Formats: sequence, C-alpha cells, structure tokens
Amino acid sequence: METGSLTPAGQRRPYDGPLLLAMTPRPPAAVPAVADTFSFAGDDHEPLPTLWRSLAGRLSSVLLAMPSATAAADLDGAARRLVELVERDPDLAIFQLVRSEHAEATPYGVVRSLHAAAAAWLVAARLGWNKARGLTLVKAAFTMNLGVLALQERLSNQARLPSPAQRHAILMHPITSAATLRDSGIADAEWLQAVEQHHEKPGGGGYPRGLAVVCEMANALRAVDVYTAKLAGRSGRDSLPPERAARDLLVVERGNAFALALVTEFGLHPPGSLVRLHNGEVGYVVERTADTASPRVAVVTSRRGEPLAVPVLRATEGREFGIAGPALSAGVRAPISAERLYS
Ligand SMILES: [Fe+2]
Repeated sequence: METGSLTPAGQRRPYDGPLLLAMTPRPPAAVPAVADTFSFAGDDHEPLPTLWRSLAGRLSSVLLAMPSATAAADLDGAARRLVELVERDPDLAIFQLVRSEHAEATPYGVVRSLHAAAAAWLVAARLGWNKARGLTLVKAAFTMNLGVLALQERLSNQARLPSPAQRHAILMHPITSAATLRDSGIADAEWLQAVEQHHEKPGGGGYPRGLAVVCEMANALRAVDVYTAKLAGRSGRDSLPPERAARDLLVVERGNAFALALVTEFGLHPPGSLVRLHNGEVGYVVERTADTASPRVAVVTSRRGEPLAVPVLRATEGREFGIAGPALSAGVRAPISAERLYS
C-alpha cells in the first residue's frame, strides 16, 4: 500500500476570505504520475477524448454487470486508468465534466460517476490524500449510485414525476449500492461507508438514515456530486455559471474542506465554461493558468457574433481580451467537442 503524499501539505488552502479570494491559482502539476496504470490493449495512440470514451464504455459494462466476482479488480483497473487520463490533461477532464459530454451509448449516470470521480481525484490530490486513499475515493465515486443507474436512465426519459416505488429506490440507493458492492466481495470499510453515507449531512437532515456524524470520504463525495451537478447540469441544460455554482456549494457545505478545495481547484472559469471577452468574442475556457481570472480561451464566435471556422486561442488579459463574464450557450450556434480542442 502506498503512503506517499500526492501534494506537499503546504498546498492546502484554508478558506479565510471572500469567495473570489478562495479561488486562488492552482498549484502546477500537483499530481505525480501513477506507474501501475490499467492498460487498455495498446490504444494509447488514440486522442485523449477517445480514451475517455473507451473508459466510460468499459466502466459502464463493469457497473451494469454488478454484482460480479471480477468487479473489485475491474473497478481498481478503471480507477487507475482514470487517474492516468486525468494526469495526462486535468483541464480536459474538467472540460468534459463541465460540458457534460458523453457518447449516447453510455448511460448518463455512468458518465456522471466518471466525471465526479475525476473531480474527486483532483481535489484529493490538492488536499494531499495518499494515493491508495485517493483511488478508494475514485472507486467510491464510480459506485455511489450503483443502486439507481438503471432508474436514472428511465427517469430521464419519463415525463411524469417519480412514482412512490421509484422515490423509495432513490431514497435507499446509498444502502442498495453498498449491498451490491458487498455482494461483489468488496469489503473495504471506508469505501462501503462512503457510499452508504454519501447523501447524509453532518448534523442530520440527509438520507436515508439522517446521521449526525458523516465520514470524511462521504463528505467529499457529496461535495463533488452537488458541485458537478450544478456546474454541468444535464447535458449542458440547467447548468449554473461557475461562480454561482461555487457560491451555492460553499453556502450548503460550510466548513467542508473538500468543497472549498473543489472550487479552488476548478477556479473562477473552469475549462468548459463559455465566456464573453471584453471585445465581444465568445469562447470556451480550455486551460487554467496561474491566474484564475485569466485562463486560455478558444474563441468560437467573433465580436460580430459570427461562428469561426477554426477556433482562435486567446490568452485572456487586458482591456480587449480579458473575460467580461459568462456567456449563454444559446448564443453559440455550433457547440464544440473536446476532440476539436484537445486532440
Ligand atoms: Fe447518490
């Protein structure tokens, strides 16, 4: 078992001021390479977004087949693969999460688990969790909604409100998810507890048990789940501007160190956010920089509102190219894929 710290403890950033001050620049290259990665049959020459899609497909088949005797090994392999892909380009991991990109063939709930796991890893690294515990957190994120994967898919195609039976399944899914893990021979106490408690709230008021004391890993999962849902919405719909998502999270998760580290890691303008520059151009944030207010942006719409054939990469600084604020997706006629920006 590895015990080495992922980041120097000095990178911890306690919240001691207004939200904007909390969104300090991310540390460079916070996560060291993981040597023992899960190999996917020599497909590493493929573009990174393609590798993400194949991981989503693989994770989907593992989760949908559970309970199964091979789940523990498969999930461990998928977690290591996720860490490898996140480390190769953390900005792409966040971009995909914020854009809520996924192939239609993969269930939405599986993709949400994948994105939540990516965010969880980045934040665990920022907080200095050791690698073994970071991997457990990733696996807990993969599996926290096991008990409602099929139901999530059904509800997304259902016009009416959930039936009483469906509501009961939603209420109990932390317990049923953990039961499926146990039935697959998984006995890691922290992983199981994190899944069972991921909708509990410190002080009570969560579900299904209304526990007053909630374990640290469950607090981490809840923060990631809530924030990524606010930021990404459902396929880009119902998504909140990043600053609003961060503010809402920090209000409901007051005192949760993981929630604070999460909004700090993602920054003021996370990759995937659509922004308007002072000169009127609109583009997608593609890369964070040391200055959280000035990420790199791929401009997709000119100052006259015309779509550009080829995105133009801008360093967002100064009176002309600085970021004026969030832009509405509706203003961009041709949404852009990660392949075009990150391949
Ligand atoms: Fe859940």
